[in-house]
Amino acid sequence: MIITIDGPAGAGKSSAAQGLAKRLGFEFLDTGAMYRAVTLAALRTGIDLRDNAALGRLLESVHLEMPPGRVLLDGKDVSDQIRTREVEQATGLIADSPVVRRRLGEMQRAIAVGRRMVCEGRDQGTIVFPDAFCKFFLSAAVEERARRRQAQMAARGETVELATLLPAIETRDRRDAARESAPMRPAADAVIVDSTGLSLDEVVDRMETEVRRRSERGTRKDE
Ligand code: DC
Repeated sequence: MIITIDGPAGAGKSSAAQGLAKRLGFEFLDTGAMYRAVTLAALRTGIDLRDNAALGRLLESVHLEMPPGRVLLDGKDVSDQIRTREVEQATGLIADSPVVRRRLGEMQRAIAVGRRMVCEGRDQGTIVFPDAFCKFFLSAAVEERARRRQAQMAARGETVELATLLPAIETRDRRDAARESAPMRPAADAVIVDSTGLSLDEVVDRMETEVRRRSERGTRKDE
């Protein structure tokens, strides 16, 4: 059984997905981490990040594993290395590559087979899991998303001004939404959750209520 959470950067998808997975006893898949890991591999080999064919070859040569909460690239834990600003910035180009999107989508489906998972990303409800049991699109006002990103970076010891973060997030939003291959948008049957002014617990409460409501409805139908 799959639950998807898509939405823009800084909307709180990762925390919400982890929180919801914990409450439901599901596993959790951070698909952004997969795009970041491929980006790290591409940066290390020095290939042109716009070269779709080279990216295709790279994907055949690297081995990506997603144990709970971690990312392994060729057997090595790169969970921290994929969170640098260099990787973050370059990931936009990698996420534009149709070959990368196709391959990572296949991997995500393969990972999810037979499991109960909350899958978080940009295209989970629209492209990767169109038949998901429950789809959420989590958003928040851009100013709030910028403040959250600032707090996350501060926790890692990085100081960034809001005036720098805000336009960067707006640019990423535009890029994610305008992408030719799998643009970010809510699935037609997604439940839209606006987390502006809500605590993480309140966001997870809303999602959990929706999932349980659907499960009960499904159980009643089966009876
Ligand atoms: O959620 P994140 O910041 O870790 O995502 C990193 C990048 O990967 C971001 O540029 C959006 C992209 N991404 C994507 O295109 N599709 C996904 N399913 C997940 C992330």
